[in-house]
Amino acid sequence: MSRVKIKQLLASDTALDAVLVKGWVRTKRDAKTFSFLEVNDGSCLKNLQIIVDNTLPNYEAVTRLTTGSAVSITGNLVPSKGKGQRWELSATAMDIISRAPEEYPLQKKRHSDEFLRTIAHLRPRTNKYGAAFRIRSELAYAIHRFFKERDFRYIHTPILTGSDCEGAGELFRVTAFDLSSIPKKEGRPDYDQDFFGKEANLTVSGQLAVEMFALSLGDVYTFGPTFRAENSNTRRHVAEFWMVEPEMAFCDLQDNMDFGEEMIRYLTAYIMDACQEDIELFSRFVDKNLASTLETIATSNFVRLPYSAAIDILSKAKTSFEYEVGFGKDLQSEHERYLTEKHFQKPVIVYDYPKEIKAFYMRLNDDGKTVAAMDLLVPNIGEIIGGSQREERYDVLESRIEASGLPKEAYWWYLDSRRYGSVPHSGFGLGFERLLMLLTGITNIRDVIPFPRTPNNIDF
Ligand code: 4AD
Repeated sequence: MSRVKIKQLLASDTALDAVLVKGWVRTKRDAKTFSFLEVNDGSCLKNLQIIVDNTLPNYEAVTRLTTGSAVSITGNLVPSKGKGQRWELSATAMDIISRAPEEYPLQKKRHSDEFLRTIAHLRPRTNKYGAAFRIRSELAYAIHRFFKERDFRYIHTPILTGSDCEGAGELFRVTAFDLSSIPKKEGRPDYDQDFFGKEANLTVSGQLAVEMFALSLGDVYTFGPTFRAENSNTRRHVAEFWMVEPEMAFCDLQDNMDFGEEMIRYLTAYIMDACQEDIELFSRFVDKNLASTLETIATSNFVRLPYSAAIDILSKAKTSFEYEVGFGKDLQSEHERYLTEKHFQKPVIVYDYPKEIKAFYMRLNDDGKTVAAMDLLVPNIGEIIGGSQREERYDVLESRIEASGLPKEAYWWYLDSRRYGSVPHSGFGLGFERLLMLLTGITNIRDVIPFPRTPNNIDF
């Protein structure tokens, strides 16, 4: 007999005989002649109620079952007399797979997120984290579906790279050297002798690589893990996160903004529909405004605002910011949140940033001062998307690389793509975890990724 998932049983139209269910005990209550067990198998938020009659041969062992124990039950799915559930399972046989000791840390009470982070290996067994990681899985699927419906190709860009895409230097180095005896040349590690014969890093973004495929396959995307050794202990940064990066040929900044907006709206609507039960949990226990926030995102047009106008609004704001506002200064999270949460109360796309505060590959505007960059800001988080139209003109790109103090030789292939059939093209990076924060109302990025990596934290 094969196992049936609880999700499937709870959605059944009819009573069923002789089904096999396997899962973990959430609670147990003993009545005079039978026991009630609430069993969860992770397939959905809801538990299945199991009625175990005292006539079962191992009934005594059943009464000693503890929260967290693993069980296998055969029984009949029958209409439930209890409130709040349509079906329950009347057990005909019960096999105890393993009994959890009494000190199982997830007893039936609310635990703080901080505590649960210390037992990240067990937290997906709670309602909240089970729901978060089911939504995470659905969201990954929805992303591929969104691209597939638009004829985009999925490109697997490398994790190990020889380039620092952003030029921002927040790199995790990769080496095969024996760290206790690193070969040196003129006092520095001699990378000529390392595995790749040059310095190598974990990727900070798949963009430069995926651009090469946009310039051949047209509309493409990459979706994978990226790594940044930023020493920022904030609630929206982790050292390992997943990024979704579309890249589109024959596409300018306007098209890019349209596409980013369309994508966020699509994914929000998809999750509201596909994960109703799990989203409902977050609306009740995590963020009371979640439903209206998601509704706004799914249905309203996003604000479009040039950077200079954003600075204007911020300078006039009757709020005291920690970081100074001024043309030429980057927007800090407090500024981003002011714009999207207080001033406009919906998502905002800020574009045309001063070239000094953005990466070398962004297309220089005709004013010579700003670049065709865009950041999409959302309530509670701030920046969720960063992207741009790319500099497609060889000479301009070359001088931007030089002006940024980057080694031109390392970018030879990137520059080369601008020599042969270069075209206007654009793309962006969407932080997958930040989108999950938006969709669940979870306020700390550490709680939407299975095992978060942050400074001094890689235990799991
Ligand atoms: O704005 P970023 O740095 O853009 C890039 O890396 C571009 N190369 C992307 C592209 O154009 N293809 O990062 C993009 C997004 C941010 O908006 C944010 O959502 C997320 O990635 N992000 C992080 N998420 C979690 N932890 C971090 N340390 C993050 N850094 C960026």
